[in-house]
Amino acid sequence: MVDENTICVAAILGSTLNGEFEDVKLLNDLLVEKNKETGWDTPIHVDAASGGFIAPFIYPELEWDFRLPLVKSINVSGHKYGLVYAGVGWVIWRTKEDLPEELIFHINYLGADQPTFTLNFSKGSSQIIAQYYQLIRLGYEGYRNIMENCSENALVLKEGLEKTGRFNIVSKDIGVPLVAFSLKDNTHHNEFEISDSLRRFGWIVPAYTMPPNAQHVTVLRVVIREDFSRTLAERLVSDIEKVMHELDAITARVTSKILVTEEKKENDVNVTVVKKTELETQREITDAWKKFVKARKTNGVC
Ligand SMILES: Cc1ncc(COP(=O)(O)O)c(C=O)c1O
Repeated sequence: MVDENTICVAAILGSTLNGEFEDVKLLNDLLVEKNKETGWDTPIHVDAASGGFIAPFIYPELEWDFRLPLVKSINVSGHKYGLVYAGVGWVIWRTKEDLPEELIFHINYLGADQPTFTLNFSKGSSQIIAQYYQLIRLGYEGYRNIMENCSENALVLKEGLEKTGRFNIVSKDIGVPLVAFSLKDNTHHNEFEISDSLRRFGWIVPAYTMPPNAQHVTVLRVVIREDFSRTLAERLVSDIEKVMHELDAITARVTSKILVTEEKKENDVNVTVVKKTELETQREITDAWKKFVKARKTNGVC
């Protein structure tokens, strides 16, 4: 995939879909070899949108950053685990030379040279001040405590979900403190219905299919942030159990209704009954309870 036109290889530290950290060190080592072989100079950019504020605090040994020679630039979202409100993100370069001069605008504005890499002119600075405040208020220790807490709470949630026996955990233990999970058996319910039902308990848990080649896998994802306490993790597990019971009860009710109707038809001499396959019956059940759930759906959090 890498050729003489490749500007850089991008690695992701904290996948949006399941929180996984890509192996940046392995990528670096392979690229070092490739560059040596070919004489190219392909660098690495690390998209550490989520992982950039996690790895340094809870996985300090993990080499994903400027410790690796080919990593030339890194972006991090301050508004995720940087713990600031939305709108602030960072990009840093290994050296001044790694950011081409022609990408920087120099403006002689009101008597001073203003170099800028982003879009020009008036912008609020509140996010930068908020980020600065968090950095000096929390420091390394403060961020480490918060990130450790987040991963412990992610573990509580993960173990709680495993205990229900109904879900496969798709996220990894090392990565962003999030839990991505899918149903072990989705013959009667699917992840979208669980997501819909959870809204009634005040939870917004996204459900989505994985990217091409893994599109058959649907997951629910819960991102654990600073304010997601252990109590909330336990409550979420309990609410998910309630939702599963509700969905099971709906399935049972609809199944028995369909079976009774079938039986009546069979006993009616004027009706010719075409026997349904198990799959057809199952589809009918799923459709019926989907309609039932849809009818009860609310538009927002309640
Ligand atoms: C891996 C990854 N890169 C980039 C982004 C975008 O970051 P931002 O919202 O700070 O622009 C996200 C956001 O979800 C992400 O998960």
